[in-house]
Amino acid sequence: MRDPVFSTRMTALLGIRHPILCGGLQWLADANYVAAVVNAGAMGFITCMSFPGEPERFRQEIRRCRMLTQGKPFGVSVSIGRRPDIVEILTPMLDVIVQEQVRIVETSGNNPAWLLPRLKDAGCIVIHKVPAVRYALSAERLGVDAVTVISGEAGGHTGQYMNSQIVQGPLAADAVRIPLALGGGMGDGRHLVTALAMGADAMLLGSRMVVAEEIWAHRAYKDHIARMDESFTRVIMSTFGKQHRVLDNATARQVADLEAAGVSDFDAYRPLAQGALVRQAYLDGDHSQGLIDMGPAGVFAREIQPVETIIDQLIDTAAAAMRSLNDRMRPVACQVSP
Ligand SMILES: Cc1cc2nc3c(=O)[nH]c(=O)nc-3n(C[C@H](O)[C@H](O)[C@H](O)COP(=O)(O)O)c2cc1C
Repeated sequence: MRDPVFSTRMTALLGIRHPILCGGLQWLADANYVAAVVNAGAMGFITCMSFPGEPERFRQEIRRCRMLTQGKPFGVSVSIGRRPDIVEILTPMLDVIVQEQVRIVETSGNNPAWLLPRLKDAGCIVIHKVPAVRYALSAERLGVDAVTVISGEAGGHTGQYMNSQIVQGPLAADAVRIPLALGGGMGDGRHLVTALAMGADAMLLGSRMVVAEEIWAHRAYKDHIARMDESFTRVIMSTFGKQHRVLDNATARQVADLEAAGVSDFDAYRPLAQGALVRQAYLDGDHSQGLIDMGPAGVFAREIQPVETIIDQLIDTAAAAMRSLNDRMRPVACQVSP
């Protein structure tokens, strides 16, 4: 594990070595993966919606992560979603989070107002993840501790505005006062320097991490991602205003065909949008099926490696980028005019 190179408000808030967050990954971010991320000096989040209707399995995963991290803080990710029964689904998960004294929670997907008091009363640090600066400001007003602003490049649900990182990053840093992470399209140490230069306190990774050795998905899926170029994702579901960036596979193309034909009845899409198809793709490696969250930053995942190697390389590349920037700065620029 690398020594700390960067010190930010996010490293201080979360007690982590490096300003790198590895966001929730449905089905994939389990105790093994999250513990590897934490043990490498970054922050990871066990994704509670990987255990739908099974809060006790979620509890076991939290306990396993505690054992694997030997007391270091780790996080859980709570996708709030818009389904009408979301409160009934998530309440038992929140009970587990509070009872197991998990201290760091990533929330996403919808307004966290209804669950925030419960988490804050339990002493949790809440990082709310949003796809636009305006939502970051609302979350800040609600009293979350930090925000992650993701851009249109992100794998998964991108929000409808889909601004690029290069535009949204500085806007977010100027607007938000609490600690800020930037995510979407990031997968290289140079992105960490860019995120910090834009005024953020951390970068957040998703797609880059799916080939990690500790991710349980089938080797054929990881090999596929490691081979791909930056043209391998597509955005679907704009018909419903729920832009979703996924791997460009047979299921995604079927959805795109329905959208191109003007079909607006969600029942036609329902069989294609089942989460069970994605889980099956991870299990058997048949990545042609399911709407598999993925962003172009997956292109930086060129080989299957342990999480620690990935994080170490990110830090080494970031440190090299800083040195290169310093070398290219004209000495006169540092002098104060008389
Ligand atoms: C396979 C995969 C699954 C994801 N699942 C979730 C999830 O369950 N909850 C969530 O908040 N974000 C989820 N995300 C989004 C990531 O946490 C992160 O915000 C996003 O990947 C960042 O953009 P990037 O993919 O360009 O790195 C997922 C992303 C991927 C690639």
